Amino acid sequence: MRLVLLGPPGAGKGTQAQRLVAKWGVVQLSTGDMLRAAVAAGSPLGLKAKEIMDRGELVPDQLVIELIDARLDGADAVNGFILDGFPRTVAQAEALEALLEAKGMRLDAVIELVVDEAQLLKRVENRIRETLQAGGSVRADDNPETLKTRLEAYRKQTAPVSAHYAGKGTLKQLDGMAAIEKVAGAIDAALAS
Ligand code: AP5
Ligand code: MG
Repeated sequence: MRLVLLGPPGAGKGTQAQRLVAKWGVVQLSTGDMLRAAVAAGSPLGLKAKEIMDRGELVPDQLVIELIDARLDGADAVNGFILDGFPRTVAQAEALEALLEAKGMRLDAVIELVVDEAQLLKRVENRIRETLQAGGSVRADDNPETLKTRLEAYRKQTAPVSAHYAGKGTLKQLDGMAAIEKVAGAIDAALAS
């Protein structure tokens, strides 16, 4: 199973990817998680990415393309992968196509979780509250102000990626406003069809 999960910040990509990992025995490739790990490790990549991520903007295409290139045919991806948060620009989508072709791979599906912006803000506020209650540390970009910038980046740079896949006939848009289990069921049905 080789799948792209598209959707705005807080749409549920990570939540659904984790369930699909357990179901299909595939690996979740989240560029956001990889970048946060690089920031935490203080690596040169992390140092470059930190301020951009904290502002809620997208990091340069080449940085994430290199991260993904190294993982698509890794040992943990023999059963496939779920791309979560990549591609996020049309240039990334085109680079992904070239990488897959070079590796003799193809995508099985591109699924977009559609959620309106008011709901996204509520979800991020919920996550902040729950994280603080559990004594954890809140993501630096999880606050209402930075969410505005993340949404703007989504509208300008990532929404055209949906149109890109729609034009190729590979896009399946699902209602991401439903409860987590319902969204999961809709993804399973879309993958079976
Ligand atoms: P990234 O880590 O990808 O963040 P994001 O997509 O902006 O947002 P989230 O991870 O918060 O959303 P999600 O869709 O995974 O939702 P989740 O399942 O967590 O990117 C972070 C930053 O890294 C970017 O801003 C950029 O700077 C950089 N970056 C990453 N990839 C990049 C790329 N390719 N190119 C350039 N830059 C890149 O769910 C959210 C919350 O809602 C949770 O609390 C969850 O429990 C809840 N929830 C989920 N589903 C439901 C539901 N159905 N009903 C109710 N609540 C739900
Ligand atoms: Mg996520």
